[in-house]
Amino acid sequence: MAKALAHPELVSLAAGFVDHETLPVEAADQAWRELFSRPAESRAALQYGTTIGYPPLREEIVRRMRAADGEPAGPVHLDASQVVITAGSNQLLFLVADVLLDPGDIVLCGAPSYYVFLGTLANVGAQAVGVQVDQDGLVPEAIEAELLRRRAAGQSQRVKAIYVTTYYDNPTGCSLSLARRAALVDIARRWSLYIIEDAAYRELRYYGPDQPSLRAFDLDGETVIHAGTFSKSFSPGIRVGWAVLPKALLGPVLAEKGNIDFGSPNFNQLLMAKVLHGGQFDAHVARLRESYRRKLDAVLQAADELLAPLGRIHWVRPSGGLYLWLRLPDGVDTSVAGPLFARAVDEGVLYVPGDPCYGQGAPRNMLRLSFGSPTTDDLRRGIAALARALRQVMP
Ligand SMILES: Cc1ncc(COP(=O)(O)O)c(C=O)c1O
Repeated sequence: MAKALAHPELVSLAAGFVDHETLPVEAADQAWRELFSRPAESRAALQYGTTIGYPPLREEIVRRMRAADGEPAGPVHLDASQVVITAGSNQLLFLVADVLLDPGDIVLCGAPSYYVFLGTLANVGAQAVGVQVDQDGLVPEAIEAELLRRRAAGQSQRVKAIYVTTYYDNPTGCSLSLARRAALVDIARRWSLYIIEDAAYRELRYYGPDQPSLRAFDLDGETVIHAGTFSKSFSPGIRVGWAVLPKALLGPVLAEKGNIDFGSPNFNQLLMAKVLHGGQFDAHVARLRESYRRKLDAVLQAADELLAPLGRIHWVRPSGGLYLWLRLPDGVDTSVAGPLFARAVDEGVLYVPGDPCYGQGAPRNMLRLSFGSPTTDDLRRGIAALARALRQVMP
């Protein structure tokens, strides 16, 4: 951030911000005006709410999850009593870590994983154990092998959960395949673990069909902790996310949430409910998909034309989300202290080094590019700058 501020001419392919230009100013303005044209609703918006959240919003989330996850595989036991509104999904991730984990407990995470959650786990003294991922997401066989290893080491009791981003992962851009969704829920049930399903990017789908969430495979609703958010699909500033919780976790999470926030901002929840009911949300997501699809196409085209000729650089082509994850040749160090980072800044581009996305034993040759914020021209300029920097350091 300091480098970006000091050099405003840099193209930042680092920050995971949603696109500033497509933020839903008119849609939010229209919903806000409608809300405040009704005195009873305006007063409700300005009053305290409940810790669990605004009932019509929770009902609408259930309706949408049922529609997206489909019948008959749909979550038969899903109802609004298990849906908790949070200040973005990050609050839910914190609450779950806080409630579920004691110091020394283990959470199995993809290697790599969303680095903010790795920080949350470290803060509660838990251990994030990295498990292999590939282009189809977390590898179930690798999870099972790690569980067997932990059992042999007498540590099964310490493993509490699996954390997985099921759609267009941050940082890899990959989604968990359909077959693996069923397999993962099966493993978690057999080993009595929770799965924390982070679905932050579900709506940012540019190619291919939607997939049912892990929650749809959890027929008694006691295994999957589902975290959703309107941050990526509408506005991170409104800070409304939600959780679908197993019944056993509802009480503890609500008690902790009540201690911390006394309920998520009611105004934001009523605004979000208005946006969903009024049709502005769906219209916005449709526009967003168009715009991000163009950016994804641009970043992939630039990578094909400018990075591929350098050889030995690999990436998986994402079909949604905001990230492109690059694997460079073994000797290239992408870390902030390494030579590539400094050269990239000199050439005019910022990226996110891959090493913070791993628990232990982080490889040094990975990096993340975010394509959501820059214009298509800047994406090309940024990739060209990265190619120039890479040419100077590639062995
Ligand atoms: C994978 C993942 N999960 C959760 C979040 C948190 O988003 P929010 O708290 O705004 O819902 C992010 C934000 O970048 C993310 O990338």
